[in-house]
Amino acid sequence: MSDYFASRRASIDDYLGHLAGATGAPRPLDAPLRRALASAGKRVRGILTLAVGESVGGRVEKLLPAAASIEMIHASSLVLDDLPAMDDALLRRGAPTLHREFGEDLAILSAVALLNHAYGLVAKAHADCAPRRWPMQQVLQRVVDAVGWDGTIAGEAVDLHPDSYKGNAPLDFDTLEFIHSRKTGALFVAAAAVGGMLGNIHPAPLQRIEVFAKNLGLAFQITDDVLDVTSKPEVLGKDVGKDEQRLTFVKLAGVDGARKLSEELVETSLTAIEPLGAAAKPLRELALLVRDRVR
Ligand code: IPE
Ligand code: IPE
Ligand code: MG
Ligand code: MG
Repeated sequence: MSDYFASRRASIDDYLGHLAGATGAPRPLDAPLRRALASAGKRVRGILTLAVGESVGGRVEKLLPAAASIEMIHASSLVLDDLPAMDDALLRRGAPTLHREFGEDLAILSAVALLNHAYGLVAKAHADCAPRRWPMQQVLQRVVDAVGWDGTIAGEAVDLHPDSYKGNAPLDFDTLEFIHSRKTGALFVAAAAVGGMLGNIHPAPLQRIEVFAKNLGLAFQITDDVLDVTSKPEVLGKDVGKDEQRLTFVKLAGVDGARKLSEELVETSLTAIEPLGAAAKPLRELALLVRDRVR
């Protein structure tokens, strides 16, 4: 991994680590919250926020609360996704899932607490960056919409109940695209957009960045579907074979077809940011990391 990514990941880890030690949450909420904040995620979405923000001249220290916010939203979605009522997962980030370690009640409360605090951090980043073109309401709304009832939550709901989405019509690529673009793509797009807006990006390059992030997010989730059938818990740090009950790209296109589709989406994402020049170099590297990832 390049120095850029290692250093940005370390900054995000630092920020979340400090927050984990200073939530002010009482026992018994402090321990699960600490774990959810500080467990070893790859921080792809937070790095995306920083890389886009920096590509338009934003300063990393000022963008960090927003990057941390995006990672907290992501972490909260994982805690909920892992619950027995959802994917019933045993392992996450190389450790027992939050509900197994601390109980379902505290896992749910931790997830809601992370989500709640995350919005405040977007507001803080906005106050620090003070972008002239993008009012706070607009920036915050992007995040709210990405997570909300037509975003991550919609994607998760249809992922769990794909049959009812089209009233028992055969499961198809269209349904799958609906699920993936929301459960994973929406937060990728918001992560990138918020970084750009806080860096005071112009509307035209923001559009390109959003196309980049949408395609990258889809590629990321397709690769996740592939790794679920080709990899091992020791490598991924989470359960494998969990998608047997789910509609995935592997089910519709096979492992090779899904891999090819993911590669094509990464190509499309790269094409979208071609005109952005040298400043977008970290974004190109990020796309290649997503293309080649094995965990
Ligand atoms: C896992 O995301 C959930 C998906 C959307 C595929 P990541 O693979 O980014 O998980 P962490 O943050 O590194 O644990
Ligand atoms: C996770 O999707 C997406 C969200 C948490 C929003 P999956 O259920 O496919 O991902 P993993 O395999 O549990 O990480
Ligand atoms: Mg799931
Ligand atoms: Mg899952």
